[in-house]
Amino acid sequence: MYSVETRSLSKSFGAVTAVNDISFAVESGEIFGFLGPNGAGKSTTIMILTTLLKPTSGQALVFGFDVMTQPKQVRQSIGYVQQESTVDEYLTGKENLLLQARLNHIPKDQIDKRIDEVLELIELSDKQNDPVVTYSGGMRKRLDIAGGLLHRPKVLFLDEPTVGLDIQTRRKIWEYIKKIHKEFEMTIFLTTHYMEEADQLCDRIGIIDRGKIQVIDSPENMKNAMGNEVISLTFENGNFADFLSQLRQIDLIKKINEDNNKLTIFASKGTEVIPKIFQISSELQIKIISISLTQPTLDDVFISYTGHEIRDDDTGFNRKREHAKMKRLRA
Ligand SMILES: Nc1ncnc2c1ncn2[C@@H]1O[C@H](COP(=O)(O)OP(=O)(O)O)[C@@H](O)[C@H]1O
Ligand SMILES: [Mg+2]
Repeated sequence: MYSVETRSLSKSFGAVTAVNDISFAVESGEIFGFLGPNGAGKSTTIMILTTLLKPTSGQALVFGFDVMTQPKQVRQSIGYVQQESTVDEYLTGKENLLLQARLNHIPKDQIDKRIDEVLELIELSDKQNDPVVTYSGGMRKRLDIAGGLLHRPKVLFLDEPTVGLDIQTRRKIWEYIKKIHKEFEMTIFLTTHYMEEADQLCDRIGIIDRGKIQVIDSPENMKNAMGNEVISLTFENGNFADFLSQLRQIDLIKKINEDNNKLTIFASKGTEVIPKIFQISSELQIKIISISLTQPTLDDVFISYTGHEIRDDDTGFNRKREHAKMKRLRA
């Protein structure tokens, strides 16, 4: 049985189709990620899977339980850590976890043990009696995650777990996520618009854009499908059109992206392709200014599937909305 599954799932808000006929399945124990820009439909999907929103059509299942007809069983199986922190700043870390434990109906005689366990896992034991206002952004996020683990869910949903944190803190959060995954042997479903995060954490990634899943695969397979190497080339003058058409005849070249006098060439054997590029350019009297050989990144994959880059902006609209919904769930 899959831990998470959707079948032709769609969600519209009036004229806006936030989630457009998506079908995917997550194996038990996998770290699965949705990678996509703001507005792609990531949070909407998570909110359907966590029973906070009703789908317009299609089906969503968590461990075989249908979110529409068995929401209670779904909620018992899941932990949900939303993008914006939900902890109370004026309580201590421990008090926040106590509150969370009661909301989750954890048996009284187990509460202390569970809290100690998650505090230790997330390395906040020595800060547990400090008020959260004194915590850094990374510590707050760790406390949020700890709260989502208290009832030992079988699947943990993390919506943009490191958004807004600096890169060092993000890396540390990744380590905690890996540690949790290992110790609890749970499924993790996360969303992100950071390529590196998806690459570092996920066994498989679904690239989502404008409500549609463009591709689902492991980061490795996605990158390999692009050709093993990327040649970045800048040049000036000469016959650009002939240059391009001759390059396209080279078998080892799989794809060429053009951007003024910059070419990004995806090739299977970069070191064999480079001499050929020089030969063609000298015949056509094209002056190569720079050339470099690198491995493909998920950025390259994303652009090739969506035709655009992931932009990093946030209106804050979604965050407020999610906060309000979470409160309703807890009430
Ligand atoms: N409650 C809502 N009412 C109207 N439009 C919404 C609502 N929630 C989300 N949307 C729209 O649905 C689309 C997907 O949003 P969302 O799932 O939050 O994307 P993501 O989490 O990938 O940034 C966006 O265009 C967003 O503006
Ligand atoms: Mg979102």
